[in-house]
Amino acid sequence: MNKIRTVKVIRGKDVIIEEGAIVGYPKTKDPVILEDGAYIHSGAVIYSGCRIGKHTHIYHNTVLLEATLVGHHTKIGALCHSHGHCKIGNFVTAVSLCHFTTYMEIQDGVLLGSGVDTANSMYPNSRIHPKHLGKIEPIVIEKGARVGGATVINPGVVIGQEALVGSGSVVTKSIPAFAIAYGVPAKVAGEVPPEDRIDWDLTLSKFPNK
Ligand SMILES: CC(C)(COP(=O)(O)OP(=O)(O)OC[C@H]1O[C@@H](n2cnc3c(N)ncnc32)[C@H](O)[C@@H]1OP(=O)(O)O)[C@@H](O)C(=O)NCCC(=O)NCCS
Repeated sequence: MNKIRTVKVIRGKDVIIEEGAIVGYPKTKDPVILEDGAYIHSGAVIYSGCRIGKHTHIYHNTVLLEATLVGHHTKIGALCHSHGHCKIGNFVTAVSLCHFTTYMEIQDGVLLGSGVDTANSMYPNSRIHPKHLGKIEPIVIEKGARVGGATVINPGVVIGQEALVGSGSVVTKSIPAFAIAYGVPAKVAGEVPPEDRIDWDLTLSKFPNK
């Protein structure tokens, strides 16, 4: 019979785990850390080795595989899936139905529309592309970037700081900081005007108890 490991759950103050959520699904021996005010909604599954930051919500039926590290004041909407070993920053919003591929990094203040999909293997299972064989090419979404709903992001792409990617895009190449880009494949079509850029001091001041 398989041995079922018990995973330690380290809970801060005022943590809420709704009925029907599973915290500490036993993939590794590492504990789950839920910081003060973390809120795990019904149906969510949080694997061992995950960390959920202060006042972060993991909404219904979202699954975070092992070692997904989520910052504070972040909202991961319903039906999202992390493939594990992902780093998700502070003040991030993922609306719903997003897929986070292994080793991706989502920096502070990023917004992902519904259904953003990500990949990290350019030629999956190929035997004729030795350059890519078995290689994980992680994605980085830099701080404050916004990615429209139903966008697909290819392996190795970096979406630059505060860039704006239009809905339904297929992003095959990195997007520079502050660019507006869209289409299939996504092309740069403009620039986010200075007056529409994020005032990071103002944003951080709204969250005094971080
Ligand atoms: C990309 C976006 C920001 C608009 O950028 P914009 O520079 O103001 O573009 P415009 O609206 O002036 O459109 C310019 C052209 O691009 C086209 N276009 C706009 N968005 C597009 C997109 N996502 N994909 C393909 N073409 C697009 C327009 O149809 C227009 O084409 P035309 O010149 O042939 O008429 C916006 O359309 C968008 O996709 N926002 C994301 C919405 C979203 O998913 N939000 C998620 C959180 S709720």
